[in-house]
Amino acid sequence: MARWVVIVFGLLQICWPAACEENKYANYTLMKITPQNGEHLEELSKLQHVPESIEILKRSRGLNRSTDILVAPHKRAFLDEFVSRLRIPVQYKLNYGWFFQEASSQAIKKDDYNVFAYNAYEDMLAFINNLTIQFSNVVTVQNVGQSYEGRKMVLVKLSTNPNGSNPIIFIDAGVHAREWAASAMAMYLIRRLGRSPRARKRELRGIDWYILPLVNPDGYEFSRSGKSNRLWRKTRSKHTGHDCYGVDGNRNYGFRWGEKGISKDPCNPEIYAGPKEFSEPETQIVATIMQTYKDRIKLYVSLHTYGPYMVYPWGFTDYIAPEKWERLHNLARMVSDSVVRAGGHRFEVMSSGQWYPAAGGSCDYAYGVIGIPYAYSMELTENFEFIFPEELLEVVLPQFFEGFTTFSIHIRREFGKK
Ligand SMILES: *[C@@H]1O[C@H](CO)[C@@H](O)[C@H](O)[C@H]1NC(C)=O
Ligand SMILES: *[C@@H]1O[C@H](CO)[C@@H](O)[C@H](O)[C@H]1NC(C)=O
Ligand SMILES: *[C@@H]1O[C@H](CO)[C@@H](O)[C@H](O)[C@H]1NC(C)=O
Ligand SMILES: *[C@@H]1O[C@H](CO)[C@@H](O)[C@H](O)[C@H]1NC(C)=O
Ligand SMILES: [Zn+2]
Repeated sequence: MARWVVIVFGLLQICWPAACEENKYANYTLMKITPQNGEHLEELSKLQHVPESIEILKRSRGLNRSTDILVAPHKRAFLDEFVSRLRIPVQYKLNYGWFFQEASSQAIKKDDYNVFAYNAYEDMLAFINNLTIQFSNVVTVQNVGQSYEGRKMVLVKLSTNPNGSNPIIFIDAGVHAREWAASAMAMYLIRRLGRSPRARKRELRGIDWYILPLVNPDGYEFSRSGKSNRLWRKTRSKHTGHDCYGVDGNRNYGFRWGEKGISKDPCNPEIYAGPKEFSEPETQIVATIMQTYKDRIKLYVSLHTYGPYMVYPWGFTDYIAPEKWERLHNLARMVSDSVVRAGGHRFEVMSSGQWYPAAGGSCDYAYGVIGIPYAYSMELTENFEFIFPEELLEVVLPQFFEGFTTFSIHIRREFGKK
């Protein structure tokens, strides 16, 4: 039934030449393939990205957890044969790209920052700047450098007692360009923590929040620049010796770099680890923030979409868990519970490498090199893959906020001044 609806919609879509840009994903199919046994998992894990043909948006995190693959029309038969030979359950979404929203469709007016929208990076910076003026007693910024293409990067500090050497909760978002909802969440946190008198008595009591709202502004702006670019993930750097752009920032950190779950091919659109560790200015910036405040950062959360998963170290291996994995696990469960109480979805909690090890991630670096006691990658949304509808931000961002309140209560209890 659902499939039929999609087809009808597709046919009705009217495309005026001027209004409708070429979208290479228009006729792609999304296949959600759900492994039921070990053989299925094994076979799925062997599937590789093929540029312009097969894009693996999400890998399975265990049995009955889908692998989501976007496939071009000319490769559909290949994957259909694959799933029917192995008898793996599959769901389809046809004409996938026809449902991409226009990045500029809800563009904000200059005088009114809409926090429940996918804003241009420039507008995020302008809004942050305004907050530092209006709420200078709580919100300050620190320039932390420039992206590869020269965009300014600022660390937003929220504190009611900047000289109090409080424990720090450090949050970054948007290392993966297409994960727009991640940065929307970071901006929501900045606005709410910065403006709300109530937050001063709760989330900000005895805790400083340091937020880098967009780790990969070059990739983000590129993914906004046209529907065919909507699913861009990497940075936009160019390293000598080949024609392809970008590195997966979350494979680029200097801890067990390049060991597993990465690609050495610069043209791999997803998981190219870079020519060397920390080849990207953006990952260097995050690492420098961690080093600078290493004694005070007690929690690091890297915001991603889509999950819904909360994962903790290690990412580089599935053989060993950190010694203190239980406390990492338990806190994540509490955070998930509070999101559920607020009406949101449950997060699945596990170690990051449990089903597909990947080395060079920021959480492993935070935990393994810097020694931050709690480190998570939080994949916020569920359903909709990376194309999370803008109109739902208003519903989900306040739900996720409850999870961050729980984080702060726990960090205060364990590390706050007695
Ligand atoms: C998608 O399919 C339609 C109908 O077959 C065709 O007109 C259009 O050119 C295709 N678009 C792309 C980007 O391949
Ligand atoms: C698999 O997942 C589906 C949807 O999440 C659920 O309805 C079903 O009960 C699950 N099956 C098993 C065997 O866990
Ligand atoms: C910043 O504040 C100025 C002055 O109040 C206002 O004109 C401008 O629209 C604001 N910009 C944003 C992005 O909030
Ligand atoms: C914090 O310290 C700085 C530099 O030592 C000083 O300029 C500032 O006034 C202090 N702020 C507060 C709120 O005490
Ligand atoms: Zn991501």
